[in-house]
Amino acid sequence: MASNKILVTGSNGQLGNELKELSSAYPQFKFVFYGREKLPLNDQSAVEKVFREYEPAFLINCAAYTAVDKAESEKDQAEEINGRAVGFLAATCKHFGTKFIHISTDYVFNGNATAPLKETDEVDPVNAYGASKLLGEKLALQNNPETIIIRTSWVYSFYGKNFVKTMLRLLSEKQSIGVVNDQVGSPTYAADLAEAVMQIILLGKWEAGIYNFSNEGIITWFEFANEIKRLVNSRCIINELTTAQFPTPAKRPKYSVLDKTKIQQTFSLELKDWKERLGVCVDKLKTGY
Ligand SMILES: NC(=O)c1ccc[n+]([C@@H]2O[C@H](COP(=O)([O-])OP(=O)(O)OC[C@H]3O[C@@H](n4cnc5c(N)ncnc54)[C@H](OP(=O)(O)O)[C@@H]3O)[C@@H](O)[C@H]2O)c1
Repeated sequence: MASNKILVTGSNGQLGNELKELSSAYPQFKFVFYGREKLPLNDQSAVEKVFREYEPAFLINCAAYTAVDKAESEKDQAEEINGRAVGFLAATCKHFGTKFIHISTDYVFNGNATAPLKETDEVDPVNAYGASKLLGEKLALQNNPETIIIRTSWVYSFYGKNFVKTMLRLLSEKQSIGVVNDQVGSPTYAADLAEAVMQIILLGKWEAGIYNFSNEGIITWFEFANEIKRLVNSRCIINELTTAQFPTPAKRPKYSVLDKTKIQQTFSLELKDWKERLGVCVDKLKTGY
């Protein structure tokens, strides 16, 4: 089925909004955006209805149960959205000849690695959210082996809730804050992830499977917070915390840096530096556009 339609689910989240913003740069495609209210992912008949109506060429699934701590006590809800609903989306894509791009997470790993994680490294979810996302990966590839899955980490954006926005608020409200300095990873500006997804679509070379994506750079949350502080000239004092001093219901990975060689080589993607991209996002948050 040849169409130029791109269906985006979960379109009111960080990545969904970045795709909305980007969509006008791709007039050759007709984008159809569906948020949770109009298309709850776990409503199979609603999903089928939308597919029958649009027969999309591509589905980009940005919807997810992303409440990482809450997922510990709501495992079934997390698995329903991040797992079983994703499996159904994949099967529906196969039925309609729609190419499926799905987003997953670094939390499918246990966080004990000491070198950047490859797509083929052994999975062992660090928490319930990670387990639910891993279920989604497995069901998607099982029901539709043509699926492209992109694992990403530490996502932030102008939109939605994220670490950068929380830090900006705390830095302006408090005289001192504490941020963990023993968890290592790489931030991802959602606008760059959105652009990478569009580049994969545009390239017209469909190589199914799992890929890693983030910005370039390896840092701790403490270092991330300090760069945000520098960008806004805040005088707030940021104290280093250990994970033990900042307990959360869901365990977080000590190390979750993703190796991006595969996505770079397969789709000729150039990855951008985390500091430069953080600067762009913070400017946008300061000025409003
Ligand atoms: N954020 C991160 O740090 C991070 C890290 C690694 C991977 N990821 C993955 O990256 C992808 C995009 O994340 P994001 O940061 O853009 O997430 P987000 O901002 O939390 O957006 C997720 C969207 O999914 C929607 N949603 C939740 N349940 C739904 C349902 N039953 N049916 C339809 N929509 C539903 C939410 O709707 P409401 O707005 O109504 O809640 C929200 O708009 C997700 O797959 C996520 O797992 C994120």
